[in-house]
Amino acid sequence: MKIGILGTGFMGRLLARKLAAAGHHVKVANSRGPESIAADVLETGAYAATAEDALNGVDVAILTVPHTGFEKIRHLVAALPEQMVVIDISNYHPGRDGVIPELEAGKVESEWARDYFGRPITKAWNSIGMASFETQGRSKGEAGRIAVPVAGDRKRDREVAIALVDDTGFDGFDAGMLADSWRQQPGSPAYITDLTYDEMGPALASAERDRLPRRRDIAAQVFEERVGERSSPDVETVVRIARALFM
Ligand SMILES: NC(=O)c1ccc[n+]([C@@H]2O[C@H](COP(=O)([O-])OP(=O)(O)OC[C@H]3O[C@@H](n4cnc5c(N)ncnc54)[C@H](OP(=O)(O)O)[C@@H]3O)[C@@H](O)[C@H]2O)c1
Repeated sequence: MKIGILGTGFMGRLLARKLAAAGHHVKVANSRGPESIAADVLETGAYAATAEDALNGVDVAILTVPHTGFEKIRHLVAALPEQMVVIDISNYHPGRDGVIPELEAGKVESEWARDYFGRPITKAWNSIGMASFETQGRSKGEAGRIAVPVAGDRKRDREVAIALVDDTGFDGFDAGMLADSWRQQPGSPAYITDLTYDEMGPALASAERDRLPRRRDIAAQVFEERVGERSSPDVETVVRIARALFM
């Protein structure tokens, strides 16, 4: 498929590497221009582009930009063809992104993104931590393969996203409509807990909506206390803490 990725940060660079390695035609952009994109992002065959070029003529757009960067990409995403699959991997962390009143009031994050961009959005890869995403991918059918929930209002969008999740080394799990995607938001049992396909359904079903924001914020404090603001925890630490707090 032809894929355009916005963002070359922790997740964007891994998605560009993995999807290009899987044989897709991948264009990737950050906020600073194609010349600023590090060589390792392009190592497996992705092409550096401007944000406009990255989204031009592709089948699938993947947004790996935090909410703080949404304003600058709003017009580009809003102008994409209605039928294009647009996958958003973002999560709302008020301590990082600033307070968004509608999300504080409990609006489902991806429904907010859908309304913000004024077009259908599919949610995927939001619930896999970057350390696991980088190191824990496995071949289809391999025992213990981690599942990644995919939510969206159009069946075809979910099918496309599930196939792409598979190409990145994880089992795509059909998590249904966007209205239910709060079940995979930060603080939920499915969030960065590295569950298998068989474990994912019960985890999504057991989420308790009112408890998610508090658990999300407690987790942010625990991670910061353990590893500091500038370092990234390893897989074992992330999963151990996340399972203790979210499940
Ligand atoms: N890190 C994780 O473990 C993880 C896992 C799943 C989901 N997420 C979620 O995914 C989102 C991205 O996370 P991240 O950790 O990958 O973020 P990040 O490392 O901060 O990277 C963000 C990227 O977005 C780019 N960007 C910002 N504005 C842009 C614009 N106008 N046009 C094009 N690119 C733009 C930035 O460009 P520059 O490089 O030029 O600054 C940067 O490359 C967040 O909402 C996060 O919560 C993160």
